[in-house]
Amino acid sequence: MLDRRHVLAGLSSLPFAARPLATFAQAAPKRLAMPPLLDATQSGRFSLDAQRGQTDFIGAGGGETWGFNQAYLGPTLRLATGQATGAQVHNGLPEDISVHWHGLLIPGEIDGGPHQAIAPGATWSPEIPLTQPAATAWYHSHVHGATGRQVQMGLAGVLQIADGQDDARGLPSGYGVDDLTLVIQDRRFDRGGRIDYSTTTVDRMSGFLGDTLVLNGQVGAEAVVPPGLVRLRLLNGSNARIYPLSFADGRDMHLIATDSGYLDRPVALGSLTIAPGERCEILVDFSSGKDARLISAGNPGQMMGRGGGNDFSVLPFRVDATQKPRITQIPTDLGGSRPDGDASTATTRQFTLDIPMGMGMMSRRAGTQLSINGDAFDMNRINFALQRGTQERWRISAGMMMHPFHIHGVSFQILSQNGRTPTAQDTGWKDTVLVNGSAELLVRFDQPATPSSPFMYHCHILEHEDGGMMGQFAVT
Ligand code: C2O
Ligand code: CU
Ligand code: CU
Repeated sequence: MLDRRHVLAGLSSLPFAARPLATFAQAAPKRLAMPPLLDATQSGRFSLDAQRGQTDFIGAGGGETWGFNQAYLGPTLRLATGQATGAQVHNGLPEDISVHWHGLLIPGEIDGGPHQAIAPGATWSPEIPLTQPAATAWYHSHVHGATGRQVQMGLAGVLQIADGQDDARGLPSGYGVDDLTLVIQDRRFDRGGRIDYSTTTVDRMSGFLGDTLVLNGQVGAEAVVPPGLVRLRLLNGSNARIYPLSFADGRDMHLIATDSGYLDRPVALGSLTIAPGERCEILVDFSSGKDARLISAGNPGQMMGRGGGNDFSVLPFRVDATQKPRITQIPTDLGGSRPDGDASTATTRQFTLDIPMGMGMMSRRAGTQLSINGDAFDMNRINFALQRGTQERWRISAGMMMHPFHIHGVSFQILSQNGRTPTAQDTGWKDTVLVNGSAELLVRFDQPATPSSPFMYHCHILEHEDGGMMGQFAVT
């Protein structure tokens, strides 16, 4: 286990992000900014404009980045559940993009996956009917073969499914005040401070890891919080890095929501791992007035000698004692639920995530394809079809490295991981699961998806997804 000294020593050596974080840590850190909030709960409509801009992340000049309505990333969309919202997505970029609503339970034809590409100059206008429970979801481009690069450039944002009940739940809800949105990403920059996504074979096989941490598009910022309870909505928007998170002083993280919404009651955790595509919401108690630091251990999921690494700083928190805290009590009843389905009659479907190893890996022959059950993704092949309303047990085998497995159009229960009951952080409703060995899921398919607009299932390491570790299914 790490003691405090070890953690701080690890932080000061900072092999990860040594250059920029060291530079920034010396100057007075800037206050972390939230993505702008685009609240569509009243209007029932919103527009996103995919555009290019310039971003200087590390003070070295910077370069071209992509975003929605801004230079990098997109606004936090807040949509009301129980109503339909009209979206207008305009593509002002010179290549096809798409906007996939990751975590939304909606039909395949408006899911925004690879079959709903938006051509340059075109506008896509889906009506999004939401009926699911409140949750923190997200949106990102999903063009097959280009997702890793497009998300790396900034085509992603957070999406809140809101039911207006957070005050009744006793939860912090002041956007950017005591309800913080944290998009966690890692990047590499070239000497001019431009995003460098020139991937090597190892990056494509093992997943792209950056050397600099970027939070909400900012490097080296600090969060300023009131001396009370603060809610953190965490999104791992990285291409491949897995973050085992904790606070340097060991304080609890009270988990209140997983991917698809609230738990029944908060669960106190000392650490929590968030993999690409996953979200979680935690409450953190700052009422002592003491500053704190969110840290991460090195990436655990990598093969080829790239695993591990020292602890590094994710985000320092400074308590502003002049602010009046709004919430100081951890609520006991969140009104959410934990799935507890009956899997006894569900049919089982096996998914094996394959990475070509050995001789084949470095060659340019067919063996370089990533795949699931031996099949690399093919836009023109539906891997299987199922009947709407059915429930299945999905058994995922990950092989030599960890893979975050994601399914479109559903939220599921994690039945087991390596034959054992899931850890506390995996007992909520999920749409993405970090598979370390094997996992069994109970999945119910309630949303329709025609063969021309199927749902995807894939590894959310974007280099794996782009490389073929994805399939598609219809629900009819
Ligand atoms: Cu977050 Cu298929 O995607
Ligand atoms: Cu998705
Ligand atoms: Cu993977």
